[in-house]
Amino acid sequence: MGDLRLVELSATTIVAVNNFSLKPGQEEFLSPVSYGIAATVVNPQTSWQRVVVDGDEVVGFVSANFDPDFPQEHFRSVLWRINVDADEQGRGVGRFAVDGLLDEARSRGMDHVNVIYEAGSGGPEKFFERVGFTPVGETEYGEVIAEIRL
Ligand SMILES: CC(C)(COP(=O)(O)OP(=O)(O)OC[C@H]1O[C@@H](n2cnc3c(N)ncnc32)[C@H](O)[C@@H]1OP(=O)(O)O)[C@@H](O)C(=O)NCCC(=O)NCCS
Repeated sequence: MGDLRLVELSATTIVAVNNFSLKPGQEEFLSPVSYGIAATVVNPQTSWQRVVVDGDEVVGFVSANFDPDFPQEHFRSVLWRINVDADEQGRGVGRFAVDGLLDEARSRGMDHVNVIYEAGSGGPEKFFERVGFTPVGETEYGEVIAEIRL
């Protein structure tokens, strides 16, 4: 692994993130229904995003929502989206991004972080388990709700 860093989004890095490629079969796991519904009520002021850069190359993206007042418990401290460019997957970028997110959650006084994902091969289930998320429930759409206690 090179010199990974988390940096704020800029006009240039947003373009790089939007041009990330996916491995075959990953598309269908990108946006569980629950996130689409919650997105309509998320307050932009409670969202947090960072890009992962390796030297001067943009290799990953992670975002979260931190809002203790959000109606649904599992959206109060939640990993919203994580993406690693297809060519950069499998070398620790995703774990680095999650570690940064956990640091951010701790610094905001959160005692846990949730993630919601669809189980199935080609999806992020194994990754989330490897980096420490434990399934704790299910949404009404059959997605897994998992959690890391801080
Ligand atoms: C999920 C994703 C972010 C993982 O990023 P990554 O940089 O490849 O993951 P890492 O290299 O940091 O892997 C961390 C650990 O998870 C494991 N892991 C990652 N993907 C895995 C997979 N598909 N199957 C099994 N284990 C996996 C790694 O082996 C590693 O384990 P280790 O640390 O014990 O050796 C990346 O595959 C991705 O961008 N997928 C497409 C987008 C997506 O589905 N996002 C989630 C929904 S928003």
